[in-house]
Amino acid sequence: MEHVIADPFGTRRVVVTGAGGQLGAALLESFPEARGLTRAEWDVTMPASFDADLVLHAAAWTDVDGAEANPQDAAAVNVGGTQHVAELGAPLVYYSSDYVFDGTKREPYLESDAPSPQSAYGRTKLLGEAAAGEDAWIVRSSWLFGWTSTNFVRTMLRLGAERDEVSVVADQRGCPTYVGHLADATRVLVDLPRGIWHLAADGECTWAEFAEAIFEEAGIDCSVRRITTADLGRPAPRPAYSVLRSERPDAPSLPHWREGLRACLERL
Ligand SMILES: NC(=O)c1ccc[n+]([C@@H]2O[C@H](COP(=O)([O-])OP(=O)(O)OC[C@H]3O[C@@H](n4cnc5c(N)ncnc54)[C@H](OP(=O)(O)O)[C@@H]3O)[C@@H](O)[C@H]2O)c1
Repeated sequence: MEHVIADPFGTRRVVVTGAGGQLGAALLESFPEARGLTRAEWDVTMPASFDADLVLHAAAWTDVDGAEANPQDAAAVNVGGTQHVAELGAPLVYYSSDYVFDGTKREPYLESDAPSPQSAYGRTKLLGEAAAGEDAWIVRSSWLFGWTSTNFVRTMLRLGAERDEVSVVADQRGCPTYVGHLADATRVLVDLPRGIWHLAADGECTWAEFAEAIFEEAGIDCSVRRITTADLGRPAPRPAYSVLRSERPDAPSLPHWREGLRACLERL
């Protein structure tokens, strides 16, 4: 059954899918002319039909561990849903992930590096890139955090207020990226050629270092005990190293993750 959305636009027809998510919220601020569609307004696992000048596709199955147990459900959203968005025929920005890489490299992943996802989530995000098509902007980003939804920053603020010590993984390295900075970079990106773009915060750190920075910036007295990924024993494998950088000279650059952290904390 096709889901028909009646007149969802203002004057410039920009649509944000997954508007209830943390990136969706930020995109709606960076594109004030956009109409946001939450899952209740468009469940992307169903086809839809409407005209748009630009679709910013932020809807996704983002439960990385849940995807291991339910890979078909994750694929229905991340692959099938993306296909439905592409079928609208509008210019499309698809948000992909550092988890398309296996994390065995020890220097930043570039757009030309071969993906090799290790998790069900990573596989669905990579297949989603293909479903978005060659004529889309494929934005790979990493370790997103913002002022809404569940994310690492909000979880650490909660745990830090409850405990004297938290155990955090110290053997995964990446680029924590503030959704506000990614949304602003998307605004620049849509005037650039389509294709794959790596857009992640400047700098890099481990989750443990990120947790320490959160407590420091927020003035919370909580220590971080360093543990390994194996200690945590999560169902989905994560890349040990997933720093993303762009090899494209005109790629929009994002501020350092610590600047993103400060901007986010101001809103929490
Ligand atoms: N989070 C990260 O660390 C990270 C890193 C790299 C890339 N990304 C990518 O960045 C994008 C945005 O992620 P995010 O962090 O903003 O995720 P998020 O906060 O989990 O938001 C995703 C949104 O998609 C919605 N959604 C789920 N299934 C849907 C469906 N079938 N139809 C319509 N909407 C649906 C969710 O609604 P419900 O809340 O109702 O489920 C949620 O509002 C995703 O493509 C993600 O894969 C994320």
